[in-house]
Amino acid sequence: MTIVNMGRRGLSFFFLFLMIFVSCTSSLDKDQKVRGLIVENAIVVTAREEASAIGLQILQKGGNAFDAMVATELALAVAFPFAGNLGGGGFMVYRLADGSIGSIDYREKAPLAASRDMYLDENGEVIPGLSTLGAMAVGVPGTIAGIFAVHEKLGTLPIEEILAPVIKLAEKGVVVTKNQAQRLANNRQNFIQVNGENTFFAQPFNEGDTIKYPALANTIRKISENGRDEFYKGETAQKIADFIQSNGGIITLEDLEAYEAKWRDPITFPYKEFTVVSMAPPSSGGVTLAQILGMLEDFDLASMEHNSPEYIQILTEAERRAYADRNFFLGDPDFVDIPVKELISKDYLRSRIADFNPNKASLSSDIREGSIQIVESDETTHYSIVDQFGNAAAITTTLNGAYGSKLYSDELGFFFNNEMDDFSAKTGVPNMFGLIGADANAIVPQKRMLSSMTPTLLEKNGELFMVVGTPGGSTIITSVLQTILNVVEFDMSMQEAVNAPRFHHQWLPDYVNFEPNGFSVGTLEILKEKGYQINEGYTPILGKVDAILVLPDGKLEGGADWRGDDKAVGF
Ligand code: DON
Repeated sequence: MTIVNMGRRGLSFFFLFLMIFVSCTSSLDKDQKVRGLIVENAIVVTAREEASAIGLQILQKGGNAFDAMVATELALAVAFPFAGNLGGGGFMVYRLADGSIGSIDYREKAPLAASRDMYLDENGEVIPGLSTLGAMAVGVPGTIAGIFAVHEKLGTLPIEEILAPVIKLAEKGVVVTKNQAQRLANNRQNFIQVNGENTFFAQPFNEGDTIKYPALANTIRKISENGRDEFYKGETAQKIADFIQSNGGIITLEDLEAYEAKWRDPITFPYKEFTVVSMAPPSSGGVTLAQILGMLEDFDLASMEHNSPEYIQILTEAERRAYADRNFFLGDPDFVDIPVKELISKDYLRSRIADFNPNKASLSSDIREGSIQIVESDETTHYSIVDQFGNAAAITTTLNGAYGSKLYSDELGFFFNNEMDDFSAKTGVPNMFGLIGADANAIVPQKRMLSSMTPTLLEKNGELFMVVGTPGGSTIITSVLQTILNVVEFDMSMQEAVNAPRFHHQWLPDYVNFEPNGFSVGTLEILKEKGYQINEGYTPILGKVDAILVLPDGKLEGGADWRGDDKAVGF
């Protein structure tokens, strides 16, 4: 069917089965490691095969990683509207073949008419759903500004050539996978609630249907012809502002005109013989990852059994302390002073983890933000690309929740984000990821909301070693952390590191989340005895990691997450 949009014990067996399945579909190397796709020159790993294929096509035409980034970002908007977007934002961390590094922030911003208490009722209570569903939840989108800034600074092919296959994909259509059919069904009532019964996504979709997106093709064609201003100043900009306002939102043409993506220095820090390069604020990803790894560095993780109680415990305690700091200190650096240097200093991190007791869980209620001596000076998707020239890019992009605010323009063919929920609507009240914010992340017009997105690169001996990232809201940081440790401490292949079961802790709520079916009853019992509260129930998936490892012989291994429809392609 083609649809056109016109306008417990047994649990371990699961993972055993998975490993067998993956070993049948992936290759085993000489060390009997399960490997993902291995290629000589260039590789693209994304949440959908169609998007990976378009990135690869651009590379095979002679484009570089950044040309491929531009194409892939919008191909994901077509093939993976769950998170891929024109109506959202993201971050890219990159490393050029010559070793120079950089990052771009194309995060959404609070509209000019936003205010600190905009999601509170007259009693000062958070109004349920206002920051997550519908037009009031939308932040000023950054994606189109982001890709054009990337293209201008780092791209090599003409934009029309880069976007042509994306427009073609939108016209030809994309086949609905089982996962996608499920996601669309799960969100259908919300689509109807926000957009009415006649909206395109109100209709039921089945696995195997082909969805064509002519409205989106048309929007991308206009952007390809007229450049970024089409989205921020032109006819499309006017349509966006009118559409959001007619649905009760506050974004104006002035908001769109004022939007700029920003180049920022990434956070870099050592972990043993590696240099980690990750995203700086307004993402909390890099700082929090630096804090956790900094606290862990003095512990002999490699001597612990992978995912043993001992290992889970030390990671959890480091995470508890880092997230307490995250939630207190971090926000948009253009609006608040963030003591980044102090937060990631070795002395501070050693003292922060000094009270760790291997026999007993700390209580989150006993942990607050650390005391810093301030020295004055200051549903998402991730894809990874390494090109044939040696450039690398880690990109995480999002609408925030699944299909963002669910607000969908049938005329323009895309969803709008609900990124405003990443602000702290009220101090101490959790957002949809259970994250508690403070003043540093309060709403101010034009401010960027704090993110957890953690696009990350690792270098070893001055050479590119890994490209990694994932969706998963607050769990992003801990999924990236575990994937890195799986490789550098436990000698896993990229695919094994991605496959391994994951857990997550974020200070508050005071429990440890475990990926269902991934951990033995015995392990969980030991942790419970030490005072850890265990949650194996609902979790925001603990990420879908798409990563690349540079192997000792220079070949590239892709790790595409089995948890989604993710796919590595290359040559
Ligand atoms: O920026 C952030 O941290 C969130 N908006 C990311 C949301 C996300 O990862 C949802 N995906 N599962």
